[in-house]
Amino acid sequence: MSPESEETPSLPSLLIRDAHIWTENRTIRGSILIEKGRIQRIARKISVPADEEILAQGLVALPGLVDAHVHLRDMRLVYKEDFTSGTSAAAAGGFTTVLDMPNTLPPTDSGQRLLEKARRASKNILVNVGFHAAAVGDRAEVKTMKMAGAFSIKLYLPKPIAPLDIGDDLTIVEVLKAARQASLPVTIHAEDSAQIERTGEIRTFKELVGTRLGKAETRAVSRILRLQKQIGCRIHFCHVTLPSSISMIGNWRSGGLSSEVTPHHTLLSEDSVEKLGWKAWMVPPLRPRHVRNRLFSEMAAGNATIIATDHAPHTIKEKRRPPAKSPPGIPGLETAMPLMLTMVNKGKLSFRRLVSLLSTSPASLFGLGSKGRLREGADGDMILVDMKKKGEIDPDKFFSKAHYSPFEGWKTQGAVHITIVNGSVVYSNGEITGKPGSGRVLRNGIRG
Ligand code: DOR
Ligand code: ZN
Ligand code: ZN
Repeated sequence: MSPESEETPSLPSLLIRDAHIWTENRTIRGSILIEKGRIQRIARKISVPADEEILAQGLVALPGLVDAHVHLRDMRLVYKEDFTSGTSAAAAGGFTTVLDMPNTLPPTDSGQRLLEKARRASKNILVNVGFHAAAVGDRAEVKTMKMAGAFSIKLYLPKPIAPLDIGDDLTIVEVLKAARQASLPVTIHAEDSAQIERTGEIRTFKELVGTRLGKAETRAVSRILRLQKQIGCRIHFCHVTLPSSISMIGNWRSGGLSSEVTPHHTLLSEDSVEKLGWKAWMVPPLRPRHVRNRLFSEMAAGNATIIATDHAPHTIKEKRRPPAKSPPGIPGLETAMPLMLTMVNKGKLSFRRLVSLLSTSPASLFGLGSKGRLREGADGDMILVDMKKKGEIDPDKFFSKAHYSPFEGWKTQGAVHITIVNGSVVYSNGEITGKPGSGRVLRNGIRG
């Protein structure tokens, strides 16, 4: 047994009784026993004594949600979000695992920096956290970042995190080759820099959105698909906003391609930008209503691979700057699940699809084989959901430091009641019950 897989001796056992358990595509009525942080048994009746018991009558037990795209910030950006506030938001939203993006201060652009981040995170997180690493020019460093545990190489096309000439196809080919050699997927923010208008005076957020049209995404997606064809590495397209992007990626059946959609791009349109200004400003921006409707349909039909939140917190002070200076991004960890459960309750999204998009698929896409399914032997990461509970999106109640949302005031039906990480309850009915350190740092390829 490697040191990483040693069990923590003090982990108490937990028995969840009488839940509706979502297991391999159907629900059964029964109990779940978690011991030493793992699911030990799932059965109709379990009568062994446990250190803690939860009576889950009327609640649905699901595998913990996995968000493959969050910005937890921390390091020198703790004023926007820190590991504890960000992972508390994750716990409240039902996410038991999140993968953090590298555009931090300092950026995650070397193995050493990834390890520094991981060291700092390990003492401060309430849910499990893994790290994406920035695309860099040096192939050896990509390997080092893989060894340090990186889950992907992130390529941010509008403006690379590390200095890279992404105008040149050869540079991108080099990044794709390095990732392939390190057996890592490339995660891509697909907006073509040359298609983003940077001239003219911007007075409103609507005008700002007008500088980043859908053609920037189409150009970037087709360019990357063309280059991927030569290299054959795995590519994950982050937050795509156009139904046509989903079909371009999905039609590429040579394999290794995946797409991600966000709750905001599938539920909100550019009308929200006009109404809400900075609260609805993120990149890629919101699209016209008919595009948003078709994107939602593509997602509900199972043509997108995963849902991720792109949780991107900023302070309200920063966001309220004039449009051209307002940083793009909205918090999403605490709104995704109530919003999507509401869609399930309205009959617009199947329950099966929801679990697949928010848990099973992101877990398998990023190699988290012991997560994303409720079954014996899996990690003790799960949530108990109340499908009947009504609520309202209230940013004042967020555990994230970013107390704003374009969904403010939306009525929801369906809520995360309890979140369990590595066998212990970290969130229960509005309260954070876990402690910093309840979560583990995940390293790609190593079971925690
Ligand atoms: O809206 C966004 N915010 N889009 C990005 O690509 C970056 C993110 C951030 O880090 O704030
Ligand atoms: Zn992005
Ligand atoms: Zn992002």
